[in-house]
Amino acid sequence: MSEHAFSPEERAAVYRAIAERRDMRHFSGGEVAPELLARLLEAAHQAPSVGLMQPWRFIRITLPVLRESIHGLVEEERVRTADALGERSDEFMRLKVEGIRDCAELLVVALMDGREAHVFGRRTLPEMDQTSLACAIQNLWLAARAEGLGMGWVSLFEPQALADLLGMPAGSKPLAVLCLGPVDAFYDAPMLAQQGWATPRPLNELLFENHWGTP
Ligand SMILES: Cc1cc2nc3c(=O)[nH]c(=O)nc-3n(C[C@H](O)[C@H](O)[C@H](O)COP(=O)(O)O)c2cc1C
Repeated sequence: MSEHAFSPEERAAVYRAIAERRDMRHFSGGEVAPELLARLLEAAHQAPSVGLMQPWRFIRITLPVLRESIHGLVEEERVRTADALGERSDEFMRLKVEGIRDCAELLVVALMDGREAHVFGRRTLPEMDQTSLACAIQNLWLAARAEGLGMGWVSLFEPQALADLLGMPAGSKPLAVLCLGPVDAFYDAPMLAQQGWATPRPLNELLFENHWGTP
């Protein structure tokens, strides 16, 4: 064991947060105390980012009319997604894919504008800005779980429509609507697995040695 390792209890807590984090779509209303929300956003903001560009921008939605408009955008995209799914359309429409109206806090996370100026680590892989933003959201997700709050990532929306709604500058791009807040219970397993939409694959099917496909 490395001399830099956390204590056994601390290590167990880290792995527990990872194992018990769930994408939540059922919320019990309530609120998130301001100091707790600040702690969670600080956890997100400590994420790694390519070239330390910190491409994330967080927009806290507090106006009920905006929340309702965002719900409307997601609903439009949910219907378009169902159309695109063809024979699984009805099955998809029965899934709950967001908790926008019920969550205590609604956050939009967006990529900043002016990203083209950041070349370090992005010359051949420009999508590393999105990847960095995802790291920030995962930090938030894990910290929220440790605090006993649920979070759901909603990506069913037309990005330009959401950008227009929130007055975002050209070049920026929203990538996440985050539903955050108290829940009655966390799902025991991914909801899409519980509902038979998808089956998670075990790690050993996705882990290779030396060459792709070699177990
Ligand atoms: C980038 C990203 C976008 C997602 N978008 C949605 C979404 O729009 N609606 C939804 O219900 N779940 C969404 N999810 C949640 C996934 O369905 C969920 O993470 C997956 O089924 C595994 O479940 P778990 O997070 O509870 O382990 C998204 C997750 C990620 C990482």
